[in-house]
This record gives sequence, C-alpha cells and structure tokens, in this order.
Amino acid sequence: MPKSIDLTNNLEKYIIEHSENLTQIQKEILDYNLSLGDQKKLQISISQAQFLQTIIKISDIKKVLEIGSFTGFSALSMALSLPEDGSLISLDKNSEISKKAKTFYDKANVNKITQIIKPALDSLKELENSKQKFDLVFIDADKENYVNYYEKSIQLIDKNGLIIIDNVLWHGEVADKSKNDEFTKIIRDFNKHIKEDNRVTKNILPIGDGLTICIKK
Ligand SMILES: C[S@@+](CC[C@H](N)C(=O)[O-])C[C@H]1O[C@@H](n2cnc3c(N)ncnc32)[C@H](O)[C@@H]1O
Repeated sequence: MPKSIDLTNNLEKYIIEHSENLTQIQKEILDYNLSLGDQKKLQISISQAQFLQTIIKISDIKKVLEIGSFTGFSALSMALSLPEDGSLISLDKNSEISKKAKTFYDKANVNKITQIIKPALDSLKELENSKQKFDLVFIDADKENYVNYYEKSIQLIDKNGLIIIDNVLWHGEVADKSKNDEFTKIIRDFNKHIKEDNRVTKNILPIGDGLTICIKK
C-alpha cells in the first residue's frame, strides 16, 4: 500500500499556518463562530476555505453559487478570491444567521455576494428557470437534500463547470462498516450516487470533513 500521512491536528495546524493568510474579517467570523459553541462545527475548516480559494483562482471562476452559508465564512473566503467582475449567490433559509453573515461581508467591503434567504430547493428552481449558469456550485447545507441539490446543480453548470460538496467523509464514518446511523447512510448513498454518475469526473479529497470535486463532462 502506498504510504500516506495521518493528518493529525498538529499537522493540520501547520498546513494552515503555511498556506494563504486569513484576512482580519475571516478571523472575526471564526471567532464569532467559536462563541456559538457547538454550532461552530457547521463552518467549513480553514484548510477547506484555503483550498476553495485556490480552486477559484486556478480555474478562472467568476460565478459561484453556494448552498448553505451559515455565518458566511465559506462565502466570504470564496468571494475574496473572485476576480473584480466575479459574483457569488449564497443560499440559506435562516434569516437571522444570514443577517449576521451580511455584517461580515459589509465589514470586509465585499459587495460581490447576493444572499437569497429561503429553502434552497425553492431558490434552485428559480435559478434554473432564470437560465443562470455558474462556474462553481458549493454544496454545504442539509444532508437529506444532498442528492436533490446535486441534481439541481448539474443543471446550473456547463461543461467543465465544478460542483464541490462538503462532508463527504462524515468524520471518517463512511468507511466504517459498524456505523449505520441515518446521516452516515445518507452520505454513503450520496457518494454512491456521485460514483455512478457518468455525467461528471469526480475526486474525493481528504480536506476537512472531506470534499468531492465533480467536473461536468
Ligand atoms: C453546514 S452550514 C453551512 C456552513 C458554511 N458553508 C460555512 O462554511 O460557514 C449549513 C447551512 O445550511 C442551512 N440550511 C439547512 N437546511 C437548509 C435548506 N433546506 N435550505 C437552505 N438552507 C438550509 C443552515 O441554515 C446552515 O446555515
């Protein structure tokens, strides 16, 4: 078996410290999320944010759609990497948390983010009807709807467009046969759905809680 490194917390910290620096407002969001206690875990990891920023830059991405924004860490991180004429639409159903996210976007002086606050499936249907297309869709909302979000997202990107999905390794439990709780099974079924989808080229990366990158053929 080829050798790979176990990603300890210490090593993860080292990677973050030796990758792109966070801005002051990104740090403020992280501090705010820490103050929320258990809810903090909803946010993507710092290394995932750094990775999304890299992907946006190397793929020349201009239009991003995010499904599940919480307090805005992933949306702001992606928006900061967009070019001058780039834009990001963020979908979340929680108006209170979205208001908080907006305070961070304003503080960062980032005006590329448009929030749509309602159940994401409704927003996705409207975006499909409006014939908008995106270069990248990032999926990070309720896991029960992951297949629905993915199927809608496929309609919203063109050839070579990207869909990136968070939490696909589900704390490593997807590969543990003794774990058969509802959410582990939902993610396993989702991963099978992607694996069997010939419309995309796909790759799972062990960053944060696991990201799948799909490239539309
Ligand atoms: C895991 S958090 C997103 C974290 C965010 N990407 C970040 O890095 O900070 C999931 C978000 O999805 C939202 N959400 C859950 N179900 C939803 C739905 N049906 N429609 C829209 N948003 C939903 C929640 O309000 C929550 O803010």
